[in-house]
Amino acid sequence: MKRIAILISGGGSNMVALVQAMQADFPARPVLVASNDPHAAGLAKARALGVPVAVVDHRSFVGDRPAFETALLAAITPATPDILCLAGFMRILSAEFLAAFGKPVLNIHPSLLPRYPGLDTHQRALEAGDTEAGCSVHRVTADLDAGPLLGQARVRVLPGDTAESLAARVLVAEHRLYPEVLREVCQNASI
Ligand code: GRF
Repeated sequence: MKRIAILISGGGSNMVALVQAMQADFPARPVLVASNDPHAAGLAKARALGVPVAVVDHRSFVGDRPAFETALLAAITPATPDILCLAGFMRILSAEFLAAFGKPVLNIHPSLLPRYPGLDTHQRALEAGDTEAGCSVHRVTADLDAGPLLGQARVRVLPGDTAESLAARVLVAEHRLYPEVLREVCQNASI
């Protein structure tokens, strides 16, 4: 049974999807939800789901990323996670953090990587006239949104789509994709 820690920065809808998937015959259980933002709405959702939470406010470490990452690692380690899932987590993690954690780190990104790493992915897809968009789950490496792909889901761009309407449809696909990929990762020890 793999132990999963989840990092969030905001609403945590992907965290909720992961936690709700990790029931019954799923080969993993959530052991911690942590956020860099004490006001993240996802923290209350995690508590309501019975998952322990932790906060490491990045504003307490302005200009000192190593100190923030050391504090984050100290908050995560006692939960002894096997895998770290970033879910709407908006801080970049350094190679040093990834090496110190030493276990797989996954992330979900709202585009069909390698297209549109970074922010404003839906607006960029619309401006490019793309007919499809989607989301990607990938291994996290020091290169932003560039680690090995583990799964993708495609979503049609519809006439009249705005960044908001497209984001809402992609988010539904994210909530299906992330648990599917996590299940595969837990069952495939080679990651
Ligand atoms: C999602 O689109 C996710 O892909 C991106 O942040 C958005 C919000 O995620 N990383 P959540 O609702 O906080 O899980």
